[in-house]
Amino acid sequence: MPFYSDELIEEIRSGNDIVDVISEYVKLTKRGSSYLGLCPFHNEKTPSFAVSGSKQLYHCFGCGAGGNVVTFLMEYENYSFLEALEALAGRIGITLPKQEMSGQARAEADWRTRILEINKAAARYFYAQLRMEQGKRAMDYLKGRQLSRETMQKFGLGYANKYSDDLYRYLRQQGYGDEILKEAGLVTLDERRGGYDKFWNRVIFPIMDVNHRVIGFGGRVMGEGEPKYLNSPETRVFDKSRNLYGLHLAKSSRKPQILLCEGYMDVIALHQAGFDNAVASLGTAFTPGHANLLKRYVREVYLTFDSDGAGIRAALRAIPILKEAGLTARVIDMKPYKDPDEFIKALGTEAYQQRIDEAQNSFLFEVSVLEQQFDLHDPEGKTSFFNEIAKKLLEFEEELERNNYIEAVASKYQVGFENLRKLVGRMAAQGMTPRPALKSGVQEKKKKENGMDKSQKLLLTWLIEDPGLFEVIRPFIEPKDFVGEPYEKTAKLLFAQYEEGAVNPAKIVSMFPDEEQQREVASLFHTRIGEIETKQEREKALKETIVRMKQNSINYRSTHLKQEGDDGAERLLEDKRKLQEIQKLHISIN
Ligand code: GTP
Ligand code: MN
Repeated sequence: MPFYSDELIEEIRSGNDIVDVISEYVKLTKRGSSYLGLCPFHNEKTPSFAVSGSKQLYHCFGCGAGGNVVTFLMEYENYSFLEALEALAGRIGITLPKQEMSGQARAEADWRTRILEINKAAARYFYAQLRMEQGKRAMDYLKGRQLSRETMQKFGLGYANKYSDDLYRYLRQQGYGDEILKEAGLVTLDERRGGYDKFWNRVIFPIMDVNHRVIGFGGRVMGEGEPKYLNSPETRVFDKSRNLYGLHLAKSSRKPQILLCEGYMDVIALHQAGFDNAVASLGTAFTPGHANLLKRYVREVYLTFDSDGAGIRAALRAIPILKEAGLTARVIDMKPYKDPDEFIKALGTEAYQQRIDEAQNSFLFEVSVLEQQFDLHDPEGKTSFFNEIAKKLLEFEEELERNNYIEAVASKYQVGFENLRKLVGRMAAQGMTPRPALKSGVQEKKKKENGMDKSQKLLLTWLIEDPGLFEVIRPFIEPKDFVGEPYEKTAKLLFAQYEEGAVNPAKIVSMFPDEEQQREVASLFHTRIGEIETKQEREKALKETIVRMKQNSINYRSTHLKQEGDDGAERLLEDKRKLQEIQKLHISIN
């Protein structure tokens, strides 16, 4: 990626005005220099989705979605980069040359396409087997689990029969070689026995991505047996940390939240009961990749995990990941039943809906789990418990929000609000940090926005909005003063564009290969801070920002001197001199 030249991509991007394209999907109203509308990527009642004609970028101040016209189509239509490019090319009458793909890129794309073809062929094969005479036992099993014909069809359920190599032979007949069949994860090759099927004598759950393409399979034994579920291994088309079972259907649900469950059967049972917003992770833990995927569609995720210890632990791990992604989490209580499938069978749809309505706030859920670890009848146990809660309450940085939670906890455990609030204050003074309820293990390198990132973003935004600033800051700041990615690369590209005479942020966005990065880069050009109105305030803010950045750049480079080359130390000194100079200077802008 990308397979096309930068020039061609830019021609297509710049040929499609972002305001025109987005207007086809979102009702936009002109507001000052840009357009505003209701964000199509999350539910909202007041518009916070801004489209800028001059920057050719969009950005939502509510959910953080952002990008250029290409990423808009990728997000809205769930297109891949190439599909979005194709659609935009079509819009302005450009036919994409097929041969522009490099040999290697083409081979990779072909390989992926072929694995998807194999998966589709296998899914059809399993599907047909379930409906034949030899699939009777599997059909009986699924009927026994109260699935309707319609549900089986909707989820494409199938059956891998008792022969251990019939799928292998079938796919070989279709012309697929051993190597690719092995990579698709459907067969195992053995020197002596030849190829045989990974799945046999199991009911099959095809796993689809959001574009309805079969990317892998889960297979369940009918009745008792080990392992209960067998899942496809990860392949070039199957990334378990970036796909969720059922999301291809749930993404079109009109419900404002997602129900996140543990098992395939839970998803299916929920959909059959009309909860068409249920998804599950793919036999693995919930990851930040999953959270980001969900964030495209909803703001709220309701956890409907098993009510046993493992389910509770899984919920405790998922909550911080969801919060980190900016999603609200709630926890549905399924007791006395094990999981949503069993709950609905026993008590029905209305009872389940009631549990949704009563779902517990994730913080209060964490607190109630914590409660079990202490003996509240013992004064010492009780004290430790409140100390732990007080530490946890430090998670909330906003005072008002924190006070609301202090109030909720105080009333639930019948302690005085003021007492608890003072305890929290003491914890804060001792420099305590909130302890995660449980180590999540899968937490990705956490990138909390710090003051420095904010300064770097601000400066990038200002430079875009007022290219005249380049002249003002150039004596002091160079691209190398931007520390860390994507700041440094973005600054380099932006400064280069300025030198060439045309600042073009939307083009920069397309120069980052992955979607997550594109979104991040787009957000760099849309940073807002509190009230800055007068020229004086702007000058003051600009100077502070430059000073902070220079200081940070110096700090960074002095701890990474080795990478700086021979004259690193000398240049550092020079920069320190510059910093002193800036501090004395009056920076003026027009
Ligand atoms: P049913 O017994 O069919 O109702 O299963 P369930 O949907 O209630 O699943 P369960 O809660 O037992 O497990 C949840 C999920 O974990 C399943 O959907 C699988 O994705 C995964 N899983 C369960 N058992 C196994 C196993 O033995 N091996 C692997 N790899 N994954 C499993
Ligand atoms: Mn179950």
